[in-house]
Amino acid sequence: MAERRKLRSEAWFGGTSKDAFMHRSWMKNQGMPADAFDGRPVIGICNTWSELTPCNAHLRELADRVKRGILEAGGLPLEFPVMSLGESNMRPTAMLYRNLASMDVEESIRANPLDGVVLMVGCDKTTPALVMGAASCDIPTIVLSGGPMLNGNYRGESIGSGTVVWRYHEEVKAGRMSVDDFIGAEAGMSRSAGSCMTMGTASTMASMVEALGIALPHNAAIPAVDSRRQALAQMTGRRIVDMVHEDLTLSKILTPEAFQNAIRVNGAIGGSTNAVLHLIAIARRIGTPLTLEDWDRFGRNVPTIVDLQPSGRFLMEEFYYAGGLPTVMRALGEHDLLNRDVMTVSGKTAWQNVVDAPNYNTEVIRDFDNALADQGGIAVLRGNLAPLGAVLKPSAATPELMVHRGRAVVFETIEDYKRRIVDPDLDIDASSVMVLKNCGPKGYPGMAEVGNMGLPPKLLAQGVSDMVRISDARMSGTAYGTVVLHVAPEAAAGGPLALVEEGDMIELDVPNRRLHLEVTDAELERRRGKWQPRPSAQSGYESLYVNSVLQADEGADFAFLGGCRGAGIPRNSH
Ligand code: FES
Repeated sequence: MAERRKLRSEAWFGGTSKDAFMHRSWMKNQGMPADAFDGRPVIGICNTWSELTPCNAHLRELADRVKRGILEAGGLPLEFPVMSLGESNMRPTAMLYRNLASMDVEESIRANPLDGVVLMVGCDKTTPALVMGAASCDIPTIVLSGGPMLNGNYRGESIGSGTVVWRYHEEVKAGRMSVDDFIGAEAGMSRSAGSCMTMGTASTMASMVEALGIALPHNAAIPAVDSRRQALAQMTGRRIVDMVHEDLTLSKILTPEAFQNAIRVNGAIGGSTNAVLHLIAIARRIGTPLTLEDWDRFGRNVPTIVDLQPSGRFLMEEFYYAGGLPTVMRALGEHDLLNRDVMTVSGKTAWQNVVDAPNYNTEVIRDFDNALADQGGIAVLRGNLAPLGAVLKPSAATPELMVHRGRAVVFETIEDYKRRIVDPDLDIDASSVMVLKNCGPKGYPGMAEVGNMGLPPKLLAQGVSDMVRISDARMSGTAYGTVVLHVAPEAAAGGPLALVEEGDMIELDVPNRRLHLEVTDAELERRRGKWQPRPSAQSGYESLYVNSVLQADEGADFAFLGGCRGAGIPRNSH
């Protein structure tokens, strides 16, 4: 008979030493029987529950279902909190704290007697933060998302989180909607527990972890309040115990092929540009090479087949009823766009997970020959304005603007933009290119979601609905437009974006992946000689962030957090 593998937790709870006594005794104050420490797998439930993170406010109850599954499978569940990142409340931006939360997760896992961990996530940054932290430890790990909210509904119209805010706000600015109606839509948009129900960043990242194979099938789309989400939680609890016995660690799943699958899935679902940053950061932690170019290469020729807002019409509820992500992955597999044999947390390969997935609604999950957009991938642009790259989401852009040349209207900061955009005398027309500086990782700091800056009210009133916009910022996954994002190096790091001046001509050529500032090198050098970095924080977390954060092309992680340090077993101080 095969010898039982020694568990990591036995270094704390095994034997009769003074240390083991202390570790067990204090745990027994929670009413645990002696056999709780008989060598069964100890499973951490890493929870981002918080009432300040409304999208994750139901995760305590969902964790109880995970515990049920862990107990059924013979494990010992231990729930613990980590920093939660609520996108809707945190200022200046939750992204400023993604790396901090990931450090909390990494060190909480490593310092404690855990054999496996369930990551309970939901709101945008909670997913990458927890996966990044766990990837640096590399113990058996499974992700459980909280699930999307039910469809928003206001006055009979199905409305999507975030996406409708941009639309209604612009309608108010254009005088087509009253302020009372605008405020009335608040409760209608968010009418159940869960995360944003558009294909925004939360749904994208829930899809990414499913596509990577680190969450069970259907993790992405089951609504938060659907009883099947609770069943999924229970199955997740059962499965993590098995994964500990199988020693199925993250690094065995997060292979280059798994990331390629995720990139293609992102194209097929019309996912958020934020996934670019997060997947590069996760890959960097686990030690799998992944570049910006991989996003363009593997996402090319992947059509967007999921007709969800903000690119399309429907919402996550309809996506689940149509078959959810397994249906999408099956379609990709049938078109030779899926690495079929990669292992997943279910204990099966990606293809085994999805091979029988039916499509119940071809309006929501379309056939390849009736795609929403032929090119669903992320376009990675380069040129003298973005030597280290920039991204654009073609499926959210206006086709007529994909090749465009226009005069730059420059905003030095987001405050400058807010002050001047409402000025009726602002020298701008529909062909102008709006340029926003100092909103990148160091500049904001935290790389705010302001890249889809609203259009000038005077042009909105004329019926203009989209313009080319360029910045070093991010864009909310629920937003849309012909928006060039993540320009690297950013303005605050002295990138060429910092040197753009009012009236410069800029050429955007998405088919040729080109972003060009029509200014001579000599003139750029002259401007560089006059450029001064802006003052930044000298103390506190913000100074650590500004001094350590990498540029967008490297995932905006901290330089010192790269690589997998493993869980090890820290020495004891008792
Ligand atoms: Fe939390 Fe959108 S604000 S998921």
